[in-house]
Amino acid sequence: ETSEQKQLIELHEQAVKLYHHILINTKMGESALDYLHHRGVNDETIDLYQLGYAPQQRLLKPFFDERQADYQLLRKSGLFSETQDGKLRDRFVDRVMYPIRNGTGQTVAFSGRLLAKDSDMPKYLNSPETELFNKRKILFNLDLARPNIRSKQPALLFEGFMDVISAYQGGIKSGIASMGTSLTEQQIYDIQRITREVIVCYDGDAPGQKAIKRAIDAFKQTDHQLDLKVVSIPDGMDPDEFIRNRGADKFQTLLQQAQSPVDFDLNYLKQEANLKTEEGQAAYISEALKLISTISSGISQDLYLNRLADSFSIDKQVLKQQLQPLIRKNV
Ligand code: CTP
Ligand code: MN
Ligand code: MN
Ligand code: MN
Ligand code: MN
Repeated sequence: ETSEQKQLIELHEQAVKLYHHILINTKMGESALDYLHHRGVNDETIDLYQLGYAPQQRLLKPFFDERQADYQLLRKSGLFSETQDGKLRDRFVDRVMYPIRNGTGQTVAFSGRLLAKDSDMPKYLNSPETELFNKRKILFNLDLARPNIRSKQPALLFEGFMDVISAYQGGIKSGIASMGTSLTEQQIYDIQRITREVIVCYDGDAPGQKAIKRAIDAFKQTDHQLDLKVVSIPDGMDPDEFIRNRGADKFQTLLQQAQSPVDFDLNYLKQEANLKTEEGQAAYISEALKLISTISSGISQDLYLNRLADSFSIDKQVLKQQLQPLIRKNV
């Protein structure tokens, strides 16, 4: 950690305090505080995550000017955008502020969420890449979740900030977020350093389901020893919505019912397939066999074959013959 990095972290700590203060103690922050309360976030959680509000008035720049902060340092922090003539202006305006901490708990960036629904601006605006922050290399909440994951809870991989925060508030404290649907190699590496047990809990909508498929493939490519499971959230909800509507206990139940990646892939395949035509069925069966061929245990391979044979009323021996060359190919 260079002294410049130290100073940048210090700058972030001050910004966290200011945004948090504005949210909880000022009239300016009222609508944002209402917004969070309406989303079911309680004051204890707001405090734990040091959530904040960046108001319409750009207050961060004058705040640092008063403290005679160094121009170059402010410029490198990512907290400001630069005008043509080199002037710095607050980047985050009228947004609920989520501090993003690195693995050791230092705030290295922010994400700001719009309050309004009808806006053509991005829902979440993140700090740009800086000396401290590379979105691809950070897992949101890893610092708080790590001790719980280490004490033998599976790591729960979510998409978003609010999924992690809702779960945590509901007593499910081993959640981390990839901050979007693209899980990176670095993030997988960081997860594998602390656990073998991961449950992917991405959103129940179509992009979320697609992303689960990509995540499964990404995990497969890095390590076969991982105990990976997948949760499907019903009715297109995301984990935050599910926990708010049905409660954290019901979410625990979902976690207990988490599927194996093969089951998820088979379900996904089935939903995409056109089983009304014979060609569609044949294509599905051939893809399903490919998946089954990747299962390492012969016994569970056999169980899957039984199921496949039953559901299409075909001879299991025929399926077995088709499976053999696929298995050989995998070795
Ligand atoms: N995300 C982002 N930038 C965006 C949209 C999303 O960085 N413009 C990241 C955020 O970390 C977000 C996550 O991707 O939490 C998942 O996106 P999405 O499911 O669309 O949002 P939610 O987390 O469900 O947000 P909310 O519940 O606040 O609407
Ligand atoms: Mn506080
Ligand atoms: Mn999503
Ligand atoms: Mn979501
Ligand atoms: Mn959501």
